Formats: sequence, C-alpha cells, structure tokens
Amino acid sequence: MDLHVVDQFAKATIIEAGKRIRDAFSYDIQVETKADANDLVTNIDRETELFFIDKIKAFNPEHKILGEEGMGEQIESLEGPVWIIDPIDGTMNFIKQHRHFMITIGFFVDGVGKLGYIFDVMNEDMFCAIEGEGAWYNDSPLRKLQPLPLEEAIIGINASWVSPNRRVNHEKMIELVRTVRGTRSYGSAAMEIAFVASGKLDAYISMRLSPWDIGGGTIIAQEVGAIATNLKGQPCNLLTQDTFIIANPSIHQQILEHYIEEK
Ligand code: IPD
Ligand code: CA
Ligand code: CA
Ligand code: CA
Repeated sequence: MDLHVVDQFAKATIIEAGKRIRDAFSYDIQVETKADANDLVTNIDRETELFFIDKIKAFNPEHKILGEEGMGEQIESLEGPVWIIDPIDGTMNFIKQHRHFMITIGFFVDGVGKLGYIFDVMNEDMFCAIEGEGAWYNDSPLRKLQPLPLEEAIIGINASWVSPNRRVNHEKMIELVRTVRGTRSYGSAAMEIAFVASGKLDAYISMRLSPWDIGGGTIIAQEVGAIATNLKGQPCNLLTQDTFIIANPSIHQQILEHYIEEK
C-alpha cells in the first residue's frame, strides 16, 4: 500500500468535508441528544460520517471504518486497514460557538497508526502526520517537543474531575492545577491533542475519551515525541473508552506519578 496515495485521498476528502460543514451553517442544523441531555449530536455529524464512509468505500471497499455515530461497522479488532473517524469533535462548540470543532481521523494497519489528521474546520488548519516521516501544521513541519519544567507547563483539562463521580483523587488534582503555570479548556479533545503536539499546550488530561477522539491525534503525537497513555500509564486502547493523558515527554511521568491517583 502506498501511504502517500492514501494520505492525498484522506486530505482531499477532509478538506471537502470541512467545506460541507461550513456550508451547513446556512441551512438547518437539527440537534438531538444521545446518552444524556448534554450528549449532543446533529444531522451534520451523521451526514459527515456518511460522507466519509461513501468516499472510503469507493476508494477501497476492503477498508474497515469505525465512526462515533455508528454509521460504519461494528469493529472487534484492528486487523487490516482501519479508519477511525470522529466527523465533528466538539459538537457542543459546533452548535453553540460555530468554531473550535475538528474533523479527526486516524488510519491504522493491523493496529499500527499510519496516518493521523486533525482539521480545524472553521480556520481550515490541518494538523497531520505520516508514521516515521513526521508531522505537519499545514505546510510547516512540527518540531520535536522540547523539555520544560512542570511549573512552566500549560495544561488542558476540563471540569469533569470536580464532578461527584470523579475518578481521580481530588486533592492531588488541585495540587497539579496549583503547580502548573496555567490551565485551559477548549471543548474539543482533538484540538487539545493537536495543541500538545504543536507545543501550544504541554499536556491534556481527560477522565474519559473514546477511540475516535484520540485515534488521529495519537499518530500525530508519536511523530513529535509526545506521550499518550491512559491515566495508569498504559498504552491507549483504540477499541474501548478510557482515561487519557497526552503530554510533553519531560512531564508525562511526573504528572502520572505525583498528581494522578485513580479511585
Ligand atoms: C467530545 C469532545 C470533548 C470531550 C468529550 C468528547 P464530541 O467529543 O472532544 O472535548 O471532553 O469527552 O466526547 O462528542 O464532541 O465528538
Ligand atoms: Ca459526541
Ligand atoms: Ca469526539
Ligand atoms: Ca463527534
């Protein structure tokens, strides 16, 4: 398989999907809920996922597809060529803010990440990577991440760790927030992962993410030396939901050892 051919196909398809999503703001966006009142989905999430499925099936009908909205297949293993797709990451931002949402896609062969994409739809900015060849922000190569002390780090984290069913030791998280230089919360996991890969954030922590939130991002991460694991420090599992941290390699272990205690 020529990865560069797949890469050209993926980029062109993502750019076309992005235009379709931007155009959707001029007609009706229908909002529905899924697991709970704040778990939102729109017709545009579903239409975008279907758009990718049609394009990929025309490109190569043997490729498997796992998508958040379930329009692809039920996938039990990552054997063979597999696309993991989040058609809109940051659906709440899409609905409310009309910005700060991403298309994110990972292309895996036998479980190995080959191509990763995070596309900022409104800004038309592409973060991407090819395994072993590097990562890019539009046409500029992304540099390997440089070490920094935790005290100078800016970390992405949302307020889920303060909720009553929090999964981590609260006191230790407060310590972390006090130790670092600052915190941010953008409402799109893919955007926060792209920011870590490009050094705009130094870590991003989530109490629960799904394979499609992180599939593309983990491939970009590995090309710049960012470390992505669950909060136990184990490799990310791309078939189930799990906790998640991605960080500059100089602070990943330190955060896990000193500030994260899972319950
Ligand atoms: C969500 C966003 C959000 C994160 C949630 C994800 P979605 O993805 O990435 O930032 O906190 O856990 O589910 O549903 O908008 O694709
Ligand atoms: Ca969702
Ligand atoms: Ca998502
Ligand atoms: Ca989504």
